[in-house]
Amino acid sequence: MKPKKIDPPELKQKISDTWRELINDLGHQNVDVDILQELTEDLRNKTEVLETFRKYLPCSPLAPTNNFWHRYFTPQKELNKRYRLSHQPLWSWIIRNEPSKTLEIGFGKGFNLLMFLKLNPDCDYFCFDLFDGSFLFWYFEKRLYRKILEKVKAIDSVHLFKGDTRKTLPKWVDKLPSMDLILIDGGHSYEVCKNDWICSKRLMSSKTTVWFHDYSYSQEVDRVVDEIDEDVFSKKVIRPKIGPYFVKVEKK
Ligand SMILES: C[S@@+](CC[C@H](N)C(=O)[O-])C[C@H]1O[C@@H](n2cnc3c(N)ncnc32)[C@H](O)[C@@H]1O
Repeated sequence: MKPKKIDPPELKQKISDTWRELINDLGHQNVDVDILQELTEDLRNKTEVLETFRKYLPCSPLAPTNNFWHRYFTPQKELNKRYRLSHQPLWSWIIRNEPSKTLEIGFGKGFNLLMFLKLNPDCDYFCFDLFDGSFLFWYFEKRLYRKILEKVKAIDSVHLFKGDTRKTLPKWVDKLPSMDLILIDGGHSYEVCKNDWICSKRLMSSKTTVWFHDYSYSQEVDRVVDEIDEDVFSKKVIRPKIGPYFVKVEKK
């Protein structure tokens, strides 16, 4: 599997401008201040320590963001930057290819959908997730999550399917149209990821591109990707500037 070529600078610029606009829309940049104000009781005595760490803790670009202490002390702006850089190849692909039907398995905080709405607003977006917010880390993330869900639920081209994909995907797959883009980034166990791939295959045409996230990061995802039949599908590893790899899969 070969790495992909580097994006041209104008594409990178477009992504970082769109990201900045999105973050501004959500008021996300003020989150540091909000946390310190809203978690007052709990953090009153820790504020000074927190602020010192927020400013001075060196953030390794390779440190996992789901590590409690790293998340606790990493400034929100740094997390935003890391997220943007780690998803840049996917968003560049969206700008170049303008998919008209997309399936995302694993909503996360909904940032891919928000980027879609800005970069490719005519796209029909289908998403399967537990939508229980259980993976959210901080109060501010829960607030942001609710705000995003509220914002997108009203949009006609957005179709959200709640529940475990081991049940929901097999139930819905025959009723869905074939997709231009599928992002597999839901449950990372072998069983869930394998189910997501098996169902995704049924939504692929000769023009569909499937992106797996977290290759090289989750051994169970690696196993699903490594088992994909290379006689039938081509696979290409995509390495973002930081964070886990993507793998792009297409029919040969
Ligand atoms: C890593 S996050 C997705 C991140 C998102 N795709 C992004 O790029 O920002 C994983 C998501 O998978 C969802 N998830 C985990 N196990 C699942 C399952 N069995 N069925 C449906 N969704 C699941 C979680 O609720 C979470 O939203």
